[in-house]
Amino acid sequence: MARLLLGVTGGIAAYKSVLLVRLAVKAGHQVRVIQTPTSQRFVAPETFRAITGAPVLTDEFEPDPLRGGFPGDPLPTHAAISHLALVEHADAYLIAPATANTIAGLATGRADTLVGSAYLAADCPVLVAPAMNHRMWHHPATRRNVDVLRADGTRIVDPGSGDLASKGEHGDGRVAEPEELLEVLEGVLAGGSSAGGPGDLAGLRVLVSAGGTREPIDAVRFVGNRSSGRMGYAVAARAAARGAEVTVVAANVGLPAPAGCTVVSVSTAEELRVACAAAFETADVLVMAAAVADFRPVDPSAGKIKKQGRTGMTIELEATADVLIELSGRRRPGQTLVGFAAEHGDQAIVHAREKLVRKGLDAVVVNDVSQPGIAFDATENAVTIVTAGGDRVVARAEKERIADAILDDVVAARATAA
Ligand code: CTP
Repeated sequence: MARLLLGVTGGIAAYKSVLLVRLAVKAGHQVRVIQTPTSQRFVAPETFRAITGAPVLTDEFEPDPLRGGFPGDPLPTHAAISHLALVEHADAYLIAPATANTIAGLATGRADTLVGSAYLAADCPVLVAPAMNHRMWHHPATRRNVDVLRADGTRIVDPGSGDLASKGEHGDGRVAEPEELLEVLEGVLAGGSSAGGPGDLAGLRVLVSAGGTREPIDAVRFVGNRSSGRMGYAVAARAAARGAEVTVVAANVGLPAPAGCTVVSVSTAEELRVACAAAFETADVLVMAAAVADFRPVDPSAGKIKKQGRTGMTIELEATADVLIELSGRRRPGQTLVGFAAEHGDQAIVHAREKLVRKGLDAVVVNDVSQPGIAFDATENAVTIVTAGGDRVVARAEKERIADAILDDVVAARATAA
């Protein structure tokens, strides 16, 4: 159980922070809340005080009756400066909701509120959950400010999409749901149940591709494959739970989005290539779990091809770009690249080792697709992780456990390369 400091700023989404605090307290965490003056127009400090059982600070010059301590802790003997003491005792500091104005202030290091000065004084993990109108969220100024926070090591919990506070408006900008925020927070703090250390991926950006691409034949038909996206989503979920900031490029995945990850939906191999290329620039780790089509119809029909009068048909295919080879050709020092290989039979490892070299990878995760009950659309898998140093067999297990094994090898590869 952890000491969580929550900074609440002035947006309608402040009501969701009440729910978050309730969840966190119920889960056994010790929570303190600080608020900006504007946030009190949306939720009164008394509400947070009642749920946390601790005073709520709204002003830097206000003495803290708990002297920077957390509920249940012995009262510190020294009455320290509140904004420094509170964040000094915290295991994590989350600002939720974070308005566009607060984010601009944080990006420039402004300390004109208790929330801002605690941000500057924090040396625990800091998370920011933006909440605003979608036009404000997409404005270049906000994009720049968010990039600055990321570059400063702050974890951004991306807003979701849906109905917004202003009537009739719909889009990105809704603050992440309280359950998701708590899950991300706990992931950053604890690193889940993985073999890796607590939060051992904190500070890393992980890009995962998942699912299977679809290459149109005509307006209603496509060339596709059997990948469900389960393995890629398991890697994404576990990476987020171990503290990473995760982007998933999802090709036709019909599963609920993994908690705490940014999902970019694509359909074709070309769309996947473009989305991965954009996110790869800033990624530290790439896990390429998607089944990308190797060939696509040369000339897809805009309408629906009619069967009338035909006794058969031939579809001419052309090769797609190999996304992994393209990305590995552009890799920077410090990036770790993991590919997957769906192989069949006794030459599986030999082929995977050849792919490791040809595609310039740190690891290849080999799925033997000839084994029944695993791999495609199953909840379990069994893999061999092939690296330059040797092969590691990971016995049949839930895909989350396989994902942890892959991420453990990523951590090990990065430690060796450092
Ligand atoms: N891959 C890719 N772009 C493609 C095809 C594959 O990035 N156009 C990636 C996959 O995501 C996977 C790895 O390459 O991580 C290996 O995919 P696989 O289909 O096993 O290998 P191929 O190179 O396509 O070789 P083959 O199908 O002949 O075994």
